[in-house]
Amino acid sequence: MVRLCEQFGSYKMYSEERVDSELQTGLPERFDAAKNFVESGGRFGRRESVEMLAARTNYFRESYAYGDEILAPGIEPFLHHAGFVEAAQATYGRPVIVPAIVYANLLVPGQELAVHTDVPEFRGANRKKMPQWLIVVMHHSGLFDEWRMPIATAVSWYHDCKGGEFAFYPDGPTAPPVALPVRFNTAILLDTDSVFHGVDRVSEPSGEIAPLKPGMRLRCEGNGTWRVVKGEESVATYRWEEMRFSISWKAYCFRDQAERRAWAQHRDDLSLEFILDRLVGDLRRLGRLTGERPGNLDLALQLVDEYVRFPAPAPA
Ligand SMILES: [Fe+2]
Repeated sequence: MVRLCEQFGSYKMYSEERVDSELQTGLPERFDAAKNFVESGGRFGRRESVEMLAARTNYFRESYAYGDEILAPGIEPFLHHAGFVEAAQATYGRPVIVPAIVYANLLVPGQELAVHTDVPEFRGANRKKMPQWLIVVMHHSGLFDEWRMPIATAVSWYHDCKGGEFAFYPDGPTAPPVALPVRFNTAILLDTDSVFHGVDRVSEPSGEIAPLKPGMRLRCEGNGTWRVVKGEESVATYRWEEMRFSISWKAYCFRDQAERRAWAQHRDDLSLEFILDRLVGDLRRLGRLTGERPGNLDLALQLVDEYVRFPAPAPA
């Protein structure tokens, strides 16, 4: 897996993912997690500038497989790994497991991953058609459960890492988190769409972080060396041992083949209008909204505020 990661060679930053276009709010796709990270200072409530926090959480990512499309040749056995399939069946009690995506995350020293829940999927509501924050809100609201398709996520590691623990809240956002150290040849499988999780800071003895900015790339230079580049300009170099590398696997978990077919044929898909009407109706029922429906930007902020209840930070 390490060789495959090196051969893939070049990794873009997560912030290069597109912004919300459907509702024209101008907000980043995951403004829910980013806003909470900046306002809370992360899991330990650290106080830093917005620029510093942005550099810390703008890690590097690439997809290795997407559906049947293989982007990193050699990933096939991992995509169909029996251990993950069995763990998904056992976790969800659903027998038909269909792998959907494999992607790699790379963090350099000083980086961390803001606490969040992943983007779930509902019939007709996926990240290709709707803003990611909205799909997250849908799940947290509990108003669309009958359309939800459970997704199992496995995260796997291929080295020992200093810092960079996988921090998650298995008993909910109000109970204490568990920090799982990154150890060679281990993995965890869970419902990351429901369980809040993040990555603690990767050890950086100086406490500083490279001046990382959107649009930079992380490149494998061979001989165990990686370089962050801005175009052809070198920003920072790292040894493999200093970095954090994980590969994630996601799979749909169907009850049976009939459910899988209904999903593929887009029977009973949700529309954006239906979703917004139901959410706005709920805000009115809760007494949070009176009078006219606000514009999309204000509505987006209100929806995330109302439904996505992040775990409170616990200063170290
Ligand atoms: Fe995640």
